[in-house]
Amino acid sequence: MKRTHHCNELRLEHLGAEVTLCGWVHSRRDLGGVIFIDIRDREGRTQTVFDPSDLPAALFEQASGLRSESVVRVTGKVRRRPEGTVNPKIPTGEVEVMVRELEVLNLAEPLPFQIDDPESAAKVNEELRLRHRYLDLRRPEMARNLRLRHTVATATRVYFDEQGFLEVETPLLFKSTPEGAREFVVPVRNSPGSFYALPQSPQQFKQILMVAGVERYFQLAKCFRDEDLRADRQPEFTQIDVEMSFIEREDIYRVIEGLLGRIWKVALGVDLPTPFPRMAFVEALNRFGIDKPDTRFGLELVDLTEEFRGSAFKVFSGAIQGGGVVKALNAKSLAGVTQGQMETMTALAKEGGAKGLAFIKVENGEWKAPMVKFFSAAEKAALESKLGIEEGDLILFAAGEWLMACEILGRIRLYAAELLRAGGKLVIPADRFDFLWVVDFPLLSYDKEQQRWYSSHHPFTAPVAEDIPLLLQDPKKVRGQHYDIVVNGVELGGGSIRIHQPAVQKRVFEDVLRIPPDLARARFGYLLEAFRYGAPPHGGIALGFDRMVAMLCGTPSIRDVIAFPKTAKGTCLMTDSPGGVEPKQLRDLHIEIRGGHRETPRPHPPAA
Ligand code: AMO
Ligand code: AMP
Repeated sequence: MKRTHHCNELRLEHLGAEVTLCGWVHSRRDLGGVIFIDIRDREGRTQTVFDPSDLPAALFEQASGLRSESVVRVTGKVRRRPEGTVNPKIPTGEVEVMVRELEVLNLAEPLPFQIDDPESAAKVNEELRLRHRYLDLRRPEMARNLRLRHTVATATRVYFDEQGFLEVETPLLFKSTPEGAREFVVPVRNSPGSFYALPQSPQQFKQILMVAGVERYFQLAKCFRDEDLRADRQPEFTQIDVEMSFIEREDIYRVIEGLLGRIWKVALGVDLPTPFPRMAFVEALNRFGIDKPDTRFGLELVDLTEEFRGSAFKVFSGAIQGGGVVKALNAKSLAGVTQGQMETMTALAKEGGAKGLAFIKVENGEWKAPMVKFFSAAEKAALESKLGIEEGDLILFAAGEWLMACEILGRIRLYAAELLRAGGKLVIPADRFDFLWVVDFPLLSYDKEQQRWYSSHHPFTAPVAEDIPLLLQDPKKVRGQHYDIVVNGVELGGGSIRIHQPAVQKRVFEDVLRIPPDLARARFGYLLEAFRYGAPPHGGIALGFDRMVAMLCGTPSIRDVIAFPKTAKGTCLMTDSPGGVEPKQLRDLHIEIRGGHRETPRPHPPAA
């Protein structure tokens, strides 16, 4: 029964050998009465030949009836392919196997979609691929993605082991700790009305592991978040989760730069230059309008607040008098944008909270915009020099509150870059990776609606030591010891140095975040208690493992690197989950569904 070789192995050196291959019928061609079947296994493919003059009629008959993706075992002799039929695209392309024996291990039914065509993924709708994920995963690109994911996971474990880290598993049945994303809850049978919650991250356990003396922890950790899904978000995903004791921010940067350097080398053969550049949150917003800047291209934001403080154009001077700023962006050579594209940009400005989007088109040596007549000569000169205005440029303005103005132009900057890329005016090499640490985040952000401060990262992040006195006086000035690792405009991960003094943690919970003391005790009491018995200074980080692998595979969707992902609606089309449960299960769980419960799982819709 045993195979002698995998389908990627045979070469000219095997000529004349009798071999046995096992695998799937990748493709079949009938040429002049002879049948050629490419057999594929995990490793590659090999051409086999069924020649009727050499074979019993019944065997040849069987080969003629083999449909794609049937599972077979063949035995035969390796021979050199005839002149002109060598396939240089595959490693086994110089040889073929003259089949003597064929065993059909399983006949496949007609396929819901073709998988032997590399372009098929683009043509077949993703729902159909997800519904038959086992077929989708046979496609070479998907098989390559899974393998790369494994390689990266292995490199990660080896690296951390070398660095003295222990992988410790933390529970998946945890308890509800609001303050972060929405959670998935799990009802408990023998304790009516109580629930576990699936962890959003192992954050609290890893900190307690530091109190437990583990010193260096990592885990490839499953996390669960019930949030709106996008191409880069799944309800369950994996983090490379890390925590260390007796360290400072610099130590985390070094460890993570070492890890990413190792991974990029192993996965892509690329040497990443380290250390990675650092950028303060305020600088990232000022220059790129976002806290995860894509620094592979310019189109930077320019501040014009001083220049327009006394302007006759009231949209600008009014915003400044109201405590705001005026920011501008030169979308180089985009004066020719279509009406629709301009509307998209205006919509981005309005979604961001502005009343509109002032812009100037520089065409035929003229600045085209009604507001230009309000600009003084000095204002025009400032625009010209600060923005480097040239024929064909499109200048976009955002006036208003600093964060709002920055973020609006940040979004428009990315959209403008997309337009430039589509028009071939901006070319970014596929192998360019701009890594960046974004640091000095504000510890707290203000929720205007609820009129309270909340943690920008999470409530365990330590303030920068010299800012601690400001916690109560001037919360917005307090910087957190938080850092994000960003690559090509994607937030790959984030972490912080933690609070390890119970008094400071208590102050943040109760006085700053205004979580009532009994609630803080109920939610986080065990953490505060643990800190009372000798908590070392500690800090850590978590990297989005799926996002990283997607980037290494060159795919925009993390669904392409997860074996069994959920759709944007959070469903698994293959198993049809989530689904209903039996009434008895609900009774056991003391749960009643308002409006009647859904019956047992629906059958699959018929195949398309
Ligand atoms: P944070 O919430 O920033 O930090 O998450 C860290 C990284 O996890 C990835 N990520 C996701 N990936 C896929 N789908 C999702 N829904 C999703 N949500 C997050 C991102 C993100 O940068 N406990 C802290 C880390 C720490 O402080 O040590 C945490 O979870 O790439
Ligand atoms: P108005 O004088 O209100 O008609 O506005 C003049 C121009 O300024 C229009 O093009 C508006 O879209 C634009 N505009 C309005 N509010 C803002 C703002 N906050 N930032 C930038 N442009 C704005």
